[in-house]
Amino acid sequence: MKTVIYNIGTLAGILPEGTRKLEGARMDHVECINDAYLVIEDGIITDFGTAGCFRGDNDSETYLSNADEHIDAHGGLVMPAFCDSHTHIVYAGCRDGEFRDKIAGLSYEEIAARGGGILNSADLLHKTSDDELYRQSMERVNEIMAMGTGAVEIKSGYGLTVEDELKMLRVIKRIKETAPITVKATFLGAHAVGRAYKGRQSEYVDLVCNEMLPKVAAERLADYVDVFCDEGFFTVDETEKILKKAAEYGITPKIHANELAVSGGVQVGVKCNALSVDHLEKTTDSEIEALRGSLTMPTMLPGCSFFLGLPYGRAKDYIKAGLPVALASDYNPGSSPSGNMRFVMALGCIKMRLTPEQSFNACTINSAYAMGVSDILGSVTIGKKANLLITKPVPSLAFIPYSHQTPVIEKVILHR
Ligand code: NIG
Ligand code: FE
Repeated sequence: MKTVIYNIGTLAGILPEGTRKLEGARMDHVECINDAYLVIEDGIITDFGTAGCFRGDNDSETYLSNADEHIDAHGGLVMPAFCDSHTHIVYAGCRDGEFRDKIAGLSYEEIAARGGGILNSADLLHKTSDDELYRQSMERVNEIMAMGTGAVEIKSGYGLTVEDELKMLRVIKRIKETAPITVKATFLGAHAVGRAYKGRQSEYVDLVCNEMLPKVAAERLADYVDVFCDEGFFTVDETEKILKKAAEYGITPKIHANELAVSGGVQVGVKCNALSVDHLEKTTDSEIEALRGSLTMPTMLPGCSFFLGLPYGRAKDYIKAGLPVALASDYNPGSSPSGNMRFVMALGCIKMRLTPEQSFNACTINSAYAMGVSDILGSVTIGKKANLLITKPVPSLAFIPYSHQTPVIEKVILHR
């Protein structure tokens, strides 16, 4: 199957083969071609270039007539679909009641301490059938695809019992098998201490290590492992214990760190070769130092800062230090009930003062790296999968985050 996209006003996000992430000053630039075409063969980008040739020259007419499908981009912008490297979109129901508590002044920690928060979602999930959980989650998957997301990482962590964690991961596996979007699954048994283990946190950590992880590994349900390493949740030592156990099964970490406090999560993540350390609302220079020279992607979740009123991550300082930065939505019912990556890109610019180019790179190639797919997704590169979105004609790349509520996305093309 050969598809030609023609009449492309701007083709954005072109990267040379072999580029897996962009760090420091390399994040400042987005390579674009104006007046372009792009060819997809069997789901892979096989050619692109300037389209002058499509106006009357014989070769290009042959090119066009050889294709099975022609997509007229009508002068719009074509760019890589967003990669959302941190979400919790498999959950049951919602937490709109806690929204009221939050507005009334309760903090995320206070809501959690009252037995709400993650435990509230775990109770709802327990009562929900597998089919219903799949149905509700697929609504969110369809929602984010329509908003231009082409790859998504999904975490467990609302089960918190052996059976319910497996139930969640099996639903994620079903989404992986049935949805057109690329999915990576992360086991987050250590998201909170399950209700039955209240006051027995170390026994719960043993359950995660000795019962959950072996079963998750045996069924090959997880690409990654995560721990909520933060004040009031899991300590650095507990995190290391879980990550070491996961390493025995060859499962790489991607962890929650420094959302609520300077937790030591970044350092333990780097020490355990985490693919990414995520949140980073609370960081000092020592976290930046710890990340220097590592292969770990610092990932910030501005939708969570927006919703909870937390400080935004110091993305500019990370980039100035020569580090890469990825952005992701954290779509979940408690701290970021939105998976709109375009809004994330806008928050990157408006609140974190990233340039549109830096924010674009953070939401595409770097977030692809943060979920282990930057070899096949995240840029316009020959040989990569054609996961692309086409917009209406826009005056510039900056218009995408600038006018972030204007519905400009015309078409999303996904291949797995
Ligand atoms: O990334 N911080 C931990 N986990 C989620 C929130 C989960 C929830 O509140 O349901 C987060 O913000
Ligand atoms: Fe999260």
